[in-house]
Amino acid sequence: MQVLTTVAELRNWSRNRSRGLLSAGIGLVPTMGALHEGHLSLVRAARKRGDAVAASIFVNPTQFGPNEDFERYPRTFHADCALLEAEGVEAVFAPAVVEIYPAGAATFVDVEGIGSRLDGHSRPGHFRGVATVVAKLFAAAEPTRAYFGQKDAAQVAVLRRLVADLLLPVELVVCPIVREADGLAMSSRNRYLSADERAEALALSRAVRAGQNTFAAGEHDAEAIRATALRELTRSSAVRVDYVAVVDWATLEPVERVKQGHLLAVAVHVGATRLIDNCILHAEE
Ligand code: PAF
Repeated sequence: MQVLTTVAELRNWSRNRSRGLLSAGIGLVPTMGALHEGHLSLVRAARKRGDAVAASIFVNPTQFGPNEDFERYPRTFHADCALLEAEGVEAVFAPAVVEIYPAGAATFVDVEGIGSRLDGHSRPGHFRGVATVVAKLFAAAEPTRAYFGQKDAAQVAVLRRLVADLLLPVELVVCPIVREADGLAMSSRNRYLSADERAEALALSRAVRAGQNTFAAGEHDAEAIRATALRELTRSSAVRVDYVAVVDWATLEPVERVKQGHLLAVAVHVGATRLIDNCILHAEE
């Protein structure tokens, strides 16, 4: 597995590698490192598709707010590389911040409207940072496909808009949420949780399951589904709710009548840790 640190190296790798490919293409798995099974499921999906896989590891400063966890975000580069190599990743792109944001960098990608909803509302500027770095990663890696987790469902919606609006020749592949045995959605931030907080954090998956069960039982009123999920979250005094929303996944606009395919999304703080979870509402339990 090659470790690449410059845009030129990544672009060369991608162009050389695509010349050698008879079918499939280049698969990019963008990450901020601190990898877990959720990330590895993206790599596996790309490999299954037959892509030559590159993963990026870059803790992107522009998607963190001033009082967020950029400094303490877990950085586990060597362990991450070992995991990626074992999964058959061919190239890891691990640039320094100046490689992505050289002195004088002044261009940012703002996905208007949708970029200010859900996490974009709670974390102003977050999706501007995400859209900017992902656009840069696409420009550098020239991937055929890029793989993202449904855990970050709002991010997926923003990136779909970005790709459509900028006519980017990349297919976004969205992979299912990977959960711990007890239901907690995998996240690099789970490692911030104390044992007690880890137990309280199960309220998130219980909340989305309760909302899903209510929909599957025939409830189509968004407020009723929201209330069911909210009730689960507020059972725990350690959980501070950021949002509980039922939205159209394409626009992140709230809906009143819920249809299959709408998104139930929740965000909370457990202690100092912000966690998210969601489900795409479907008819069967
Ligand atoms: O989902 C993430 O880990 C990040 O938001 C991404 C897409 C790698 C951009 O920094």
